[in-house]
Amino acid sequence: MTENIRIEDLPGGVRLVTLDRPEKKNALTGVMYDAMRGALEAADESDAVGAVVFAGVPGAFSAGNDIADFVTRAEKAFSEAPSLRFIRQLARTRTPMVAAVDGVAVGIGTTLTLHCDLVYASPAARFRMPFVELGLVPEAASSYLLPRRVGRLKATELLLLSEMFGADQAEALGLVNAVMPSDMLVEHAVAQGTRLAALPRGALAASRALIRGDQAQVDAALQAEAEAFDRQLRTPEAQERFQAFLARAKPASA
Ligand code: COA
Repeated sequence: MTENIRIEDLPGGVRLVTLDRPEKKNALTGVMYDAMRGALEAADESDAVGAVVFAGVPGAFSAGNDIADFVTRAEKAFSEAPSLRFIRQLARTRTPMVAAVDGVAVGIGTTLTLHCDLVYASPAARFRMPFVELGLVPEAASSYLLPRRVGRLKATELLLLSEMFGADQAEALGLVNAVMPSDMLVEHAVAQGTRLAALPRGALAASRALIRGDQAQVDAALQAEAEAFDRQLRTPEAQERFQAFLARAKPASA
């Protein structure tokens, strides 16, 4: 068991992956990405696991990539970054995935849900993708997936202007299946995961591939984003934003 990630295999074939770093609002570290990637890889290899459910702690699904990690990562080869390796696995996972979002879902906290087959949220869910605001570009194929899900104009508001949106808006946009009280959320997500896990596996896999569309396009978007992200990560405009968040000060250019 990795620190900050709990992985439980429940009766009924659901693997429950709980992000558990409440003191940092579930900001994701390299170790957490590696544990999540491992949980997905192992799910695909296991006959016993028929669905993966992602959950957070009360009030925090995930505050996104740990910003301190963005600072140190600029010194390393991005292609080997745990976040990128997780995202690549996420996009190609064959096991159905369900998200239970309570509280903040920022950056990858939102874009992860674009890859899930079902998404449930509590009224306290707050989604936001502040990549550009941070001097970065969209990731996890969100520049490809989001315009197709919500239309280009709405995607522009969400991805360029980093607009926050709540559970009801997410449901109206088709980014969330249903909104429900937080004390029912994980239970419901697990119940839906259990239903998916009980379906005939061959029919499920073939139908899922049809619904999700062209994997090659997703892979191409992911790669183009990763290259742009890597370039941006090293720029002074991005590094200044990271330092400002970490120092809790406004950037000089703001
Ligand atoms: N990376 C590193 N630390 C983070 C973090 C992140 N992405 N998000 C939150 N934290 C830390 C805060 O620095 C704070 O740490 P401290 O207690 O040591 O000061 C702690 O988590 C709690 O966060 P706080 O900002 O006090 O909580 P909040 O409820 O007021 O706000 C957020 C929550 C998520 C809205 C806010 O923390 C935020 O905007 N985080 C940055 C999100 C982000 O830009 N992620 C990257 C996307 S690409």
